Amino acid sequence: MTNIFENLEEKKTIFKDKKPLDHRFLPEHLPHRNEQITAIAKYWIEALNNNTPSDVTIYGKTGTGKTAAAKFAKEQLIEASANKNVSIRVEYIRCTDFTTEYQVIAHLCQQLGRDVPNRGWTKAEIIKAFRDIFKKNVFGRNLILIVILDEIDILLEKDGDGILYTLTRTDNVAILSISNFLDFKQYIKPRVASSLRDKEIVFPPYNAEQLADILRERSRLSFINGSIDDGVIPLCSAMAAKEEGDARYALDLLQTAGEIADEKGSDIILGAYVKEAKERIEYNKVTDVIMTLPTQQQRVLEALLKLTKSKEEITSGKLYETYEEVSKGDAVTYRRIFDFVNELEMLGIISTNTISRGHGKGRTNIINLQCDLDVLERALYPLGI
Ligand SMILES: Nc1ncnc2c1ncn2[C@@H]1O[C@H](COP(=O)(O)OP(=O)(O)OP(=O)(O)O)[C@@H](O)[C@H]1O
Ligand SMILES: [Mg+2]
Repeated sequence: MTNIFENLEEKKTIFKDKKPLDHRFLPEHLPHRNEQITAIAKYWIEALNNNTPSDVTIYGKTGTGKTAAAKFAKEQLIEASANKNVSIRVEYIRCTDFTTEYQVIAHLCQQLGRDVPNRGWTKAEIIKAFRDIFKKNVFGRNLILIVILDEIDILLEKDGDGILYTLTRTDNVAILSISNFLDFKQYIKPRVASSLRDKEIVFPPYNAEQLADILRERSRLSFINGSIDDGVIPLCSAMAAKEEGDARYALDLLQTAGEIADEKGSDIILGAYVKEAKERIEYNKVTDVIMTLPTQQQRVLEALLKLTKSKEEITSGKLYETYEEVSKGDAVTYRRIFDFVNELEMLGIISTNTISRGHGKGRTNIINLQCDLDVLERALYPLGI
């Protein structure tokens, strides 16, 4: 009999270090983002001359390096200011963590050494405490603060544009906003827009060759030399280029393909593992979404699954009928179901299509599943039917 410790012995792996594949890792170089980083630096250099830089807004789709570039520029500015007679602070704020103006201002105060409570003060009190920080100190040296507001859309949507109003009207403060949407300014009222004279920098999606350069750098740090087959990086890059040039997805593909190689006990990543990785990532994403849906929405999906399997054209009426069957007396109204249908469409699990049946016959909504049937079935019935 084998000793149980033998089985538990450390498994063989092709990873040297997984950290460089993590999304939070900040690499020393950001290939193909020189132009954008230099553009930020050209505004921020003002801080080194003791002037408040312009406000800047970065736009770009997911995984185009916005967060990485902003953090990179921050590190560079801090480094450059070290032996100059200036006092510069750059504070990075992820607006998913601080979702109100109060929270952001309180956090900034705390970072800058003011002891303020996380709640309880009025907004006017907290703003006053914040602005007091910028009164000239005894040496007459100004503090210049650059606030990076990452994923600003979330803050604006939840709490309005007050934060921009306050920051743009505080001396010595510059903002770098990061947004996924070109139209995020719809949340900003004219009175605020007029004081936010921001410069815009666009981050275009990466193409396949650029993604390959990014992956090559990261893979050198992460994988043991020679553990990646020749076609693998071009394949990951081509697949991620199709997903709107998303570098995060490219990194996920490579890491997951590496994990699959480890599981199979292979000392090299093959192209076939990348295809498997794609399915696994897709599977996990869809499964997570479906498994955490409320019961009634899961029933809508059960009904859709049933109809799809019997190859029926799924009209709204047909869907409701089948949903009622599935619900066995515990059904909600027709109207509610169509709110669910909209939500499921936004999640990308289904699509709807309005078709015209011809003259005088009106229009009908046709619903289609957009996810793999097997994936859906396993997510809805994890224990089997
Ligand atoms: N030019 C680059 N060189 C090296 N790594 C990069 C580059 N661009 C992006 N990455 C890496 O890809 C991942 C995603 O980048 P990042 O988080 O900056 O994207 P983002 O534009 O902020 O996306 P989102 O809008 O989803 O927040 C990170 O791991 C980042 O380090
Ligand atoms: Mg980001």
